[in-house]
Amino acid sequence: MSEPLRIVALISGNGSNLQAIIKAIQQEALPAKICAVISNNPHAPGLEHAHAAGIPTQVIDHKTFPDRLAFDTALQHAIDHFATQLVVLAGFMRILGPAFTAHYEGRMLNIHPSLLPAFTGLNTHQRALEAKIKEHGASVHFVTRELDGGPVIIQARVPILDNDTIQTLAQRVLNAEYCIYPLAIRWFAEGRLRLVQGKVMRDGLLLTAPVNYQHESSTS
Ligand code: GRF
Repeated sequence: MSEPLRIVALISGNGSNLQAIIKAIQQEALPAKICAVISNNPHAPGLEHAHAAGIPTQVIDHKTFPDRLAFDTALQHAIDHFATQLVVLAGFMRILGPAFTAHYEGRMLNIHPSLLPAFTGLNTHQRALEAKIKEHGASVHFVTRELDGGPVIIQARVPILDNDTIQTLAQRVLNAEYCIYPLAIRWFAEGRLRLVQGKVMRDGLLLTAPVNYQHESSTS
């Protein structure tokens, strides 16, 4: 057996995606070890999930740094201390600078609550409802310097129902997130996922479009 993939997860809030990843590891569906959970928010409820799972936590509060570069540098130092192989952004609400994203090129993933490239940025569920579209979803992507702009690995689609509120839609999307994030991380852990010249390579093939979760078999 090879060593489990060494992950550091960055959070700012609830950490329900973190929880889904922890669960997948505990159920042996993901050959990975979360070496640490780092939050920029000292009050992030997600820190409790880490504690409960016995994972070391660290708070690096952006408010205590003079500028973005100083924060990014401290964060990078903390991450690299763990010989980290993959950085997992799980509801991390800080914009990361170009030196930071370049340092982790091809080894940092994010989950975004929309079908990218639609609705980058914040308030995606509200904007999807206002746009009166019928379908919404979530995307896992490699992180590049463009906010929510990196190559997309996998997407899950959910319907928008007539009586949806922001909350009901957000929960439907979150439930999909809990499936696709552990799956994408598993592919990376198994050496099946790489960023090659700005494109996603999975199982040796360059993707021409993101993997559609609904079309994947449950054994992939
Ligand atoms: C999720 O919707 C994720 O897509 C976005 O931030 C939210 C984090 O939720 N990046 P949680 O902290 O994992 O519960």
